[in-house]
Formats: sequence, structure tokens, C-alpha cells
Amino acid sequence: MSKRWNVYVTRMLPQPAIDLLKEYCDVEINPDDQVLSHEELLTKVKGRDAVLCLLTDTIDDEVFAAAGSQCKLFANYAVGFNNVDVEAATKRGVMISNTPDVLTDATADLAWTLLFSVARRVVESDKYLRDGKFQGWGPMLLLGRDITGKTLGVIGTGRIGGNFAKKAKGFEMKILYNDVTPNPQFEAETGGVYVDKETLLKTADFISVHVPLLPSTRHLISTNEFKLMKPTAILINTSRGPVVDEKALVYALQTNEIWGAGLDVFENEPAVEPRLLECENAVLLPHVASATIDTRTNMGLIAVRNILAAMQGAVPPTLVNIEVLRAKESNKA
Ligand code: DGY
Repeated sequence: MSKRWNVYVTRMLPQPAIDLLKEYCDVEINPDDQVLSHEELLTKVKGRDAVLCLLTDTIDDEVFAAAGSQCKLFANYAVGFNNVDVEAATKRGVMISNTPDVLTDATADLAWTLLFSVARRVVESDKYLRDGKFQGWGPMLLLGRDITGKTLGVIGTGRIGGNFAKKAKGFEMKILYNDVTPNPQFEAETGGVYVDKETLLKTADFISVHVPLLPSTRHLISTNEFKLMKPTAILINTSRGPVVDEKALVYALQTNEIWGAGLDVFENEPAVEPRLLECENAVLLPHVASATIDTRTNMGLIAVRNILAAMQGAVPPTLVNIEVLRAKESNKA
């Protein structure tokens, strides 16, 4: 029987995950439903065996040092882990896990929600009605853009990009995609055609971005990319905010270089570029792509299962830095 681990959870999570964790571990949870300051985080992680952290926590080398050398795992409650310095973790022998798969459908669904909302001016129409402006059906009232039969451009063909594209089937869309290399599985599952980024930007009616945030993907969509897009194009971003240059996007929206944009993520969350708030042709959501009761519960359960596996000396099922184990093996040898 392994010793009960001492685990810190940086913010309240769905109860089933907390209940499972408490069954096997001694748990302290941040009692406030808000992000801890870096100083608070440094204090709270001290002496823990594992930490269950969120994408809003910056987990850097200072945090690993503060946690102490007994700390084995930081279980990140997100599929993306750009908030964690994985290299520093690996150097210190700390495992990092994430929560893939369980949020794929919810995130792809929300990308579609944004696509529909922008194309059919859903938010604007709702506001129009609530503002008491609806005087009856009008032939020119709130005209949007067709979706069925149009061309979908998918940038990034991992789990979420692939799932998003598969869902286009019912709308008889032509799919173009771009990624670092062609993806035969994506092609087989979606009928997508690999094109260079420029062709995709010039041709697609809807462009949806599904890449991780890396130095190479920061501002992947910026001034030059907007210039290539059609004036009728709609950009969707549910990946990470800094992938889209927000200032360039504001310019593109204000000058009608593109038709509209749907964003769930922002460059400097929770801050949003103020001029973006004034763009009626943008639908802006507060990073809720995985925010369904089932998905958030399952994310919590996966994070906890990673902690329990590590506690029993097993490999956490969704370990991000597998190299950490190799380093341990070669130290033993
Ligand atoms: C993730 O898991 O990376 C998502 O952005 C969370 O909503």
C-alpha cells in the first residue's frame, strides 16, 4: 500500500474529482474561486507530493523549487500545457500530465458554435431583439453568410482539429487543411486536402485554428495572413490567444478585410484588447470551450488518475514529459 500523498489543488474543481482524490490522498484546496497570485502559489506548493494546477497558473522553475525535491507531479487541468515550463520540470525530475481526449468534442463543438454565431449573426440578432428593435420580418434584416457547401480551412490537425473537421460532413463542406506535415489519418477521416497556408487563407470561407501555442505558432495569424483572406472570411480561434495577433485582427475587422471572427481565447487573458469589444462582427467568449459539466468532471478525473498512478509508482496515463522517466531509468543504471 503506497503512502497517502499530500496534494494541493489550486482551485475548486467538480466534486467527483475532488471526492476521488480525497479517498486516497490528503488534500488541500484553494478555498477561493480565483487564481492564486504567484507568491501564494509558491507558498502553497511547498512540501507537496503532487499539485493539481490549472492553465491559469504559471508553473515555472521557481514553483518547482518552492515545491521541493519530494514533489513528483504537477497534473495540469487542461490539454494545453503552455503555462508549464516542461523543460524545467524534466530537469528537476518532476512529471507533468495533461487532460487530453475528454475535452475534444466539447472544444470542437464550441468552435462550431462560434462559426455559426458569427456567420448567422446570432449574438447581434439576440441583442437586436432584446433591445426592442424587432419590428417584424424584414428581407434585409441581419443578413449573414451561408455555411452549407462552403470551404472550411483547418489549421492544425491534432485531436481537436480532426474532430472539428469531421463534424463538417453534415454541411457538405469542402475541407482544406494545413499543418507542419500532411496528415493521412485526417485526410482519410475528413476527406480534407492538404494545401500550403497561403492557399488555405486565400480560399477558405471559414478558417479555424487548432494548434498548440509554441514559439513557431505565436502570431501565426497576423497582418499578412489577414491580407490574404477573402473579405467574406470568418476566423475562429479556440486554441490559444497568442496564436492570433489581436491588434492585426482588430484592424482586419474594423476595415472589413474579413467578415468576422469568433474567439474563445485572447492574447492576454483575462484582458481583452478594448477595441475588439467594439467590433460587432466578432463573437467573444470567456475561454469556455471545455466548459460542460461532463467534460470538466472528466478532466478532473483524469488529472486525479494521473496523481493516483504516480502515487502507486505507475506511469501517469497522460504524462507529457516521458523523458523524465527515461532520465530516471538511466540514473538507476
Ligand atoms: C485546454 O484544456 O487547454 C482548454 O483550453 C481548457 O478549456
